[in-house]
Amino acid sequence: MSIILGAFQIMNPNGTVGVSWRHPDNTSLGYLTTRYWTTMARQLEEGGFDFLFFADSYGYPTDASGEILDQALIDATNLPMADPITLVSAVAAATTSLGIVVTSSTQVERPPAIARRYGTLDHLTDGRIGWNVVTGAAQASSAALFGEEMMAHDDRYAQAEDHLTICLKLWEGSWADDAVIADMQGGIYADPSRVTQIEHDGVFLSARGVFGVPPGPQRSPLILQAGTSGPGREFAARFAELVFIGGGDTELIAAQIADIRARAESHGRGGAIRFVVGAHFVVGATADEAAAKRATMLEFATLEQASTSYTWLTGIDLLSFPADEPLPDLHTEMGQTALDRYLHPGTSARKTPREILEEFRDNGINGTVFVGDGDGIADEMAVFLEHVGADGFLVQPHITPGTYTDFIAYVVPELRRRGLLPDLPAAASTLRSRLFPETGDHLPFGHPGRAYRRPAREAVSPS
Ligand SMILES: Cc1cc2nc3c(=O)[nH]c(=O)nc-3n(C[C@H](O)[C@H](O)[C@H](O)COP(=O)(O)O)c2cc1C
Repeated sequence: MSIILGAFQIMNPNGTVGVSWRHPDNTSLGYLTTRYWTTMARQLEEGGFDFLFFADSYGYPTDASGEILDQALIDATNLPMADPITLVSAVAAATTSLGIVVTSSTQVERPPAIARRYGTLDHLTDGRIGWNVVTGAAQASSAALFGEEMMAHDDRYAQAEDHLTICLKLWEGSWADDAVIADMQGGIYADPSRVTQIEHDGVFLSARGVFGVPPGPQRSPLILQAGTSGPGREFAARFAELVFIGGGDTELIAAQIADIRARAESHGRGGAIRFVVGAHFVVGATADEAAAKRATMLEFATLEQASTSYTWLTGIDLLSFPADEPLPDLHTEMGQTALDRYLHPGTSARKTPREILEEFRDNGINGTVFVGDGDGIADEMAVFLEHVGADGFLVQPHITPGTYTDFIAYVVPELRRRGLLPDLPAAASTLRSRLFPETGDHLPFGHPGRAYRRPAREAVSPS
């Protein structure tokens, strides 16, 4: 079976490790031009990638009083961050088979706005759009920007359930497959009996009305999820088709995947979820060349930048703790995932702030790192996937296009030789059927959204 390959991007000058825009080989300062992204998208499509993923957040790194950290602006850590949803049509027009996945937080916009945007993009991308559903990194500054109080962590996931349910009802339940007639002679665009109002009365969000967009090739975008706190894993088990897992400790990754699979099984969704791990690849023609590249990259990574980035994810300022004393148990109402990565819940193992920041500085927000030549890395990837039970990787950028150029030149041919990637370029298809050929373009039976589908029109018996 082929592995899944995604490319991780943010509409920001940095990659996901260090202050990489300063690297002389990086072209990432072009991130505010359309051509930068369409060129990258074509490279990824031709190189065998399944999708281009744009992470996103309105939140930026702040101190305890909510002021922006100067270091964030100096290094361009998570600020600036432009809106990647604006790129999707341009990327779709430049490609024919590449999937395009974008993050939208359930905390920012209300469900009908999200449903309408992704429902429209399902048409404009020919069914190649996916939504990474998150409750949001850097939630404190994001909420403040919108003039709101930050909702408590677990409530955000309960609210996300209302949010996604409304979207699913709009995508799946409002328009029947045969609602659009577009009969020019008869003068009927849509059959009123085949378009119905949806209703949702939730604890946090409610909706009543008709969806504004007829169904696209997938109806619902591919549903992805990221965030492995307890409520995050439960949300993934119930709703996600593809789950992004942060890299780092291999045993923690394996445990998170096993836990989500077990939960999915209990919801009747066993085998319906695939897992993709965020990882950093430094590849060379030889292992020595790769090691030299890695050493150069690390020159552009600092503890100050690592601390800013960690604060963005968790709200915790590691520099405010004694550098060499084990970190005490900490609680955050912001993102839990990057805290669990180091605190190892359930054990007494505790790292010091210095150890955490050094690891975070070198390995970035996801943390699994492969350095070597194509042959060696392809072997390591296969062993890793087998061990943790994942289905693929999100290739984190350090240098663009260099990270992807090296990966495509050296690793992709080795993956093909091992039967882990198809030899031929992918045919045009929806993103869902590309990743789930066995179930096709639409949400499969067993997914909660599928239950909202309207039954087919009853056959009219001849009189
Ligand atoms: C590969 C990967 C990609 C992610 N992308 C985003 C993103 O684009 N935006 C975001 O707010 N959170 C993103 N997250 C999740 C956040 O790091 C954070 O964990 C989450 O939003 C809060 O949920 P939690 O408390 O369950 O961790 C990503 C996580 C992973 C592993």
